[in-house]
Amino acid sequence: MATGAWQLFGLEYAALGALAVVLVRLALDYWRASRLMAALRADAVPALASSSGGLWGELVQRIARLLREREGRARLSEARLQEFLVALENSPNGVVLLDEKARIEWCNQTAATHFGIDAERDHLQYIGNLVREPAFAAYLASWNYSRDVVLSGAASASSALRLSVQVHPYEGNRRLLLSRDVTAVEQAEAMRRDFVANVSHEIRTPLTVLAGFVETLQNLPLDEDDRRRYLGLMAQQAHRMQTLVNDLLTLSRLEGSPPPGSAEWTPLAVLLSQCEQEGRSLSALLASTRPHEMLFNASPAAELAGSPSELLSAMSNLLSNAIRYTPAGGRIEAGWRILPDGRGEFTVRDTGPGIAAEHLSRLTERFYRVDRSRSRETGGTGLGLAIVKHVMQRHGAELKVSSTPGAGSTFSLLFPASRVRQVAVSAPAAVPMADKRVSVS
Ligand SMILES: Nc1ncnc2c1ncn2[C@@H]1O[C@H](COP(=O)(O)OP(=O)(O)OP(=O)(O)O)[C@@H](O)[C@H]1O
Ligand SMILES: [Mg+2]
Repeated sequence: MATGAWQLFGLEYAALGALAVVLVRLALDYWRASRLMAALRADAVPALASSSGGLWGELVQRIARLLREREGRARLSEARLQEFLVALENSPNGVVLLDEKARIEWCNQTAATHFGIDAERDHLQYIGNLVREPAFAAYLASWNYSRDVVLSGAASASSALRLSVQVHPYEGNRRLLLSRDVTAVEQAEAMRRDFVANVSHEIRTPLTVLAGFVETLQNLPLDEDDRRRYLGLMAQQAHRMQTLVNDLLTLSRLEGSPPPGSAEWTPLAVLLSQCEQEGRSLSALLASTRPHEMLFNASPAAELAGSPSELLSAMSNLLSNAIRYTPAGGRIEAGWRILPDGRGEFTVRDTGPGIAAEHLSRLTERFYRVDRSRSRETGGTGLGLAIVKHVMQRHGAELKVSSTPGAGSTFSLLFPASRVRQVAVSAPAAVPMADKRVSVS
């Protein structure tokens, strides 16, 4: 009986012991689960991984590894996103991301400048409140974005900024807005239109005159004198058209060819002597009764680097203008000097009618003439100074004009020091400078 009782107690103790073990394990598991949960909440799983073993330890390590991988992927995505944003930020085009309600979610600096937006201040602002041009409002509302719309840029941007804006919808109602600065394109287009109009006009005038004379010659019985006079006038008009076409070809050649190098040096004396010859002949032709008083000064002896034919054309253009626009008997000086900083300056000064200040900045525009009737009288088409300007740009040089109405004009060509070389003695000129009166300017 006593043995039986002990056995019974023994069984109960064993059961109690097992229960205690189970409870302890449960408590331990609960504690470990709570520790893991706390670590997950505090983002501190990796720290736990090193201090845990067994099944829980493996569990913690696997979770820690998964978290590490996820963090790595997130970091990579973040870095890629930053790279994209930097690329978009540096785009020469404006980029704006709009949400479903056309509010600004993000924009790059170019778009901010184009539209006068502040990326931070205007975040989630309706774009229509910031870009107020009616054409843009209509375009945005149309949901037809197959073409772009051209708008004026923000008032704070450069004055005549013109923008081509195109919207591209994505993800349903979200929109990507791209803006491109088309100011230069629009200006070039306007210039092209003006140019075509000017050329047509310049050619139409002599053509009309020519056609009129041809008709007269065909229909009227003319005596020999009249016939000769008409043919002379026709030749004049034909020559005018020829000059125009030649000048246009010169301009297009100047635009299309690479800039001249600095290897070819031409003595200034040679250039000036050729200018002088041409100038004197022109003056004799235009002012035969009372010739111009003309002074030429080619010292100090120097050489210029560049294309000799272009340099000669620039210089003789200035001289021929001075001769053509200065009334007979006027005085014209063409001189040369080297400035203290090494630059060279060729100057043509006349005592002609002068040019009012408002015309000065426009003189080098193609076909620009101050006094159209007078310029046409002397056969001018308004391309001479445009050619001079081109030649100067190609030589890294500058054209400067100063003038006082009624008192005369001074046109100067300023060459950079790198293209000017002073020579010890006057270089032997290929064309002798006969009849040269030297003046000190
Ligand atoms: N020395 C000058 N004195 C007064 N006006 C001048 C002088 N030089 C140029 N101009 C003015 O500038 C305008 C432009 O000159 P530019 O040489 O470009 O054209 P143009 O002389 O009319 O024609 P082209 O030179 O093509 O035969 C002239 O029409 C003239 O009105
Ligand atoms: Mg001219």
